[in-house]
Amino acid sequence: MRLIVVVGARPNFIKVAPLMPALAAAGIDAGLVHTGQHYDAALSDVFFADLAIPEPRWSLGVGSGTHAVQTGTAMMRLEELFAAEKPDAVVVVGDVNSTLAGALAAAKIGLPVVHLEAGLRSGDMSMPEEVNRLVTDQLSSMLLAPTRDALEHLAAEGVSADRVHFVGNIMAESVVRNVGRARERGACGRFGLEAGAYVLATTHRPENVDAPEALAAIVGALDGCSLPVLFPVHPRTLPKLEAAGMAGAAGGGSLRPVDPVGYLDMLSLQCDAAAIVTDSGGVQEESCMVGVPCVTVRRNTERQVTLEVGSNRLVPAERGAIEAGLAEAMAASRDWAVPERWDDRVAARVVEALGCGILPLAGY
Ligand code: UD1
Ligand code: UDP
Repeated sequence: MRLIVVVGARPNFIKVAPLMPALAAAGIDAGLVHTGQHYDAALSDVFFADLAIPEPRWSLGVGSGTHAVQTGTAMMRLEELFAAEKPDAVVVVGDVNSTLAGALAAAKIGLPVVHLEAGLRSGDMSMPEEVNRLVTDQLSSMLLAPTRDALEHLAAEGVSADRVHFVGNIMAESVVRNVGRARERGACGRFGLEAGAYVLATTHRPENVDAPEALAAIVGALDGCSLPVLFPVHPRTLPKLEAAGMAGAAGGGSLRPVDPVGYLDMLSLQCDAAAIVTDSGGVQEESCMVGVPCVTVRRNTERQVTLEVGSNRLVPAERGAIEAGLAEAMAASRDWAVPERWDDRVAARVVEALGCGILPLAGY
């Protein structure tokens, strides 16, 4: 079997890290194509190095742009590649614009699409990722679900059960495989922080960083925290912080903005944090895996399972709500159960699913 696996943005790289060796071990010829959606070394190269991900066989240099420009450019270049290579199927992961571009380009020329991380839903169509998830899943021949609620969402949308496989969460497999190495790094020491005595924060969702009041509320709450707050700043967020005069160590308070960090350092920083404040999908899952309470600053989440097990709490982008959520998280017990199939066998289950055969879409 010959597959092309599409990646483009930071969370995609982490998702394919356990997958590529499992496919190779099963004798499947899987080539990686990097669209170039993320291109800074700190958002791309560092993950290939940290996780020993195979070099992309193809790099498309798509870069940044509006949604249509980025998705359309990626589609044009992927279509050319798919048409020339004629793989048996195209694998897409997660919910970024490169995921949607891969699914659309493949489906339109009759190539089956396999979606890893299918069925997550926030119910919020103002999120670009929700649009990407819905369309990608409708175009997919094989849907690989991370959670039981994802199975329910797909069933409710009329996706036939014989296309859907409950493989578990591939982000969790990356954590299980790397947390030992990460813990040994003691990354917080390099930032002058003590284990258990700091908060880790990330924010990059448009609903938070493109809305000045929301960003001010988040920064205000973090800057007023009783512990130092390490804040690796996403490149989308940096110009917004700068425009608001909040990019330096804001006002002599607790907030410590730093450059984005690599995967192993980020995992190390999560393990040693007193609590985590984020709007990242992946960080909601990782904090659940490493046993550190999380506060998610969003209107909703597609990672509802983390709310259900009790590792995560959802708060609006308002200063008082974030402060209250953080206080609750820091006092919370850490004895939640990790969700079902968030383990080290997810990539193996993907291989098993592929072994069952990919069902063609209606009409083929
Ligand atoms: C994208 C995904 C989001 C995901 C996030 C992971 C979409 C619609 N969004 O958001 O789901 O959570 O990646 O991090 O696909 N930039 C750089 N260097 C880079 C990449 C981006 O400076 O290497 C800057 C550019 O100014 C760019 C902006 O960041 O315009 C946003 O990048 P983009 O890939 O469009 O979206 P993200 O916000 O990164
Ligand atoms: N991450 C990282 N360094 C950082 C911030 C995040 O390695 O400075 C990792 C994080 O641990 C997780 C992934 O990036 O594995 C999540 O990506 P992101 O938050 O950009 O996207 P999302 O998951 O929200 O789509």
